[in-house]
Amino acid sequence: MVEDPLMVQILPDQPSSYTFSKTKSKSILLLIITTTLGLLFVVFYSNIELSSSGWNVKSSFRYSVIIDAGSSGTRVHLFRYWIESGKPVFDFGEVNYLSLKLTPGLSAYADNPVEANTMVAHLVDFAKIFIPVGVLKVTDIRLMATAGMRLLNETVQQQILEVTRKVLRSSGFMFRDEWASVISGSDEGIYAWVIANYALGSLGGDPFQTTGIVELGGASAQVTFVSSEFVPPEFSRTISYGNVAYKIYSHSFLHYGQDTAQEDLYKSLQNSGKGTVIDPCTPKGYTAGKKSLNDSFGILAEESRLTATVQAAGNFSQCRSLTFAMLQKGKENCPYKHCSIGSTFTPNLQGKFLAKEQFYHTSKFFELEEKAWLSKMIPAAKSFCGEEWSKLKEKYPTIKDRYLHGYCFSSAYIVSMLHDSLGFALDDERIKFAEKAGAKNTPLDWALGAFILNNAKARYDYGGKSRKNLGFF
Ligand SMILES: *[C@@H]1O[C@H](CO)[C@@H](O)[C@H](O)[C@H]1NC(C)=O
Ligand SMILES: *[C@@H]1O[C@H](CO)[C@@H](O)[C@H](O)[C@H]1NC(C)=O
Ligand SMILES: *[C@@H]1O[C@H](CO)[C@@H](O)[C@H](O)[C@H]1NC(C)=O
Repeated sequence: MVEDPLMVQILPDQPSSYTFSKTKSKSILLLIITTTLGLLFVVFYSNIELSSSGWNVKSSFRYSVIIDAGSSGTRVHLFRYWIESGKPVFDFGEVNYLSLKLTPGLSAYADNPVEANTMVAHLVDFAKIFIPVGVLKVTDIRLMATAGMRLLNETVQQQILEVTRKVLRSSGFMFRDEWASVISGSDEGIYAWVIANYALGSLGGDPFQTTGIVELGGASAQVTFVSSEFVPPEFSRTISYGNVAYKIYSHSFLHYGQDTAQEDLYKSLQNSGKGTVIDPCTPKGYTAGKKSLNDSFGILAEESRLTATVQAAGNFSQCRSLTFAMLQKGKENCPYKHCSIGSTFTPNLQGKFLAKEQFYHTSKFFELEEKAWLSKMIPAAKSFCGEEWSKLKEKYPTIKDRYLHGYCFSSAYIVSMLHDSLGFALDDERIKFAEKAGAKNTPLDWALGAFILNNAKARYDYGGKSRKNLGFF
């Protein structure tokens, strides 16, 4: 929803843009380049070389690369770490960690998978600027795709992955075909949980002192936390870190992401009757640029019969009821002790939580304070949803329409998901919104958690194996 702060068009007339995720740009000069990507890299490179904190060749450093192929963009993460007393030392500050995001997401290449190779090649080139050529062949590169790709059919997923593998095989990095994959939603949740608890210093400690994660992405939502309840094996994952085993509830609600849920809602309104139906989740007067049903991921192209004209008439309370109904759909079929969202098991909430991604962005948009932010979101959102679109445009001149109009929906969806469905009290002090955590302000990005698990030599059960570990509980 909220774009990264530094976004520059690389090529005119192309949807690509790049983001360089350095928070304080001391040594790196950001230039707008209208000619070629190559020139851009040269500029980065010369500056890096001059700076004392650049990635100089030192034999003691190790490197790792993860390409996060998300629904809205593809981000390459470069990690540099080293070994002290036989253990890896990680640092996600600006000296040892860099990332670059290109848009659109890989799933946008569904109609023409071959074209995905240019984007992946650009990301590989970026990595090669920083990683000394002498260590490329011992530096792993992995491409992990998430919900945008998960929503494509298997054939198309594999076609796109195969294109990326071709690029990665000849990249000079250490690569195995299985390292380019679509990861499961619960993997993504586990990785996010790992980086959060690593940042907070709770990874390696008492399982019940860890912090859970709720995240609202574009195409899915994840809930991940340590629970002492019985968790059916399909929702239970066990990871070990140090000498501690963590039994974690983790589930990804595919299609419950903010963008997919909003499109589903809009589609159901359009199919809900004849004549004019009211859309309470869009501020009154908003008409321009209504998203077509197919656009954002190329995944919603299924035929739907559009019978009604939808009229924007923002009303937070009505929107909250409508989104709550979406979240409850199918609950009557709940085969478990309790279901919070649809017919999916979720144990009772336990411990502290961080709410990230769109939970964070929407809270920031409404300038909410940390304390009791969920309860404060309600009046702020009521006023936003009920406002005329033209007034909102005046009030927020710098925010793009396609983002601005979504805050009515997202705020209602957040309250109906976190409070009405999952059961967080509105003034619950245990849940905070965040995009970074810990003393070092570590970004809460699942790719960092994946990097830790790949390199910490932690025992980690992929998929169903965790079920065998249930015995200790
Ligand atoms: C996946 O999509 C392709 C292209 O649209 C189609 O030809 C194919 O039949 C689909 N495969 C499955 C398993 O749905
Ligand atoms: C969706 O895409 C198809 C072809 O890609 C196009 O024919 C159709 O008009 C689109 N539908 C909408 C609602 O934009
Ligand atoms: C919004 O909808 C609720 C419930 O239908 C209604 O009570 C309220 O008056 C509406 N608010 C506005 C400003 O129209």
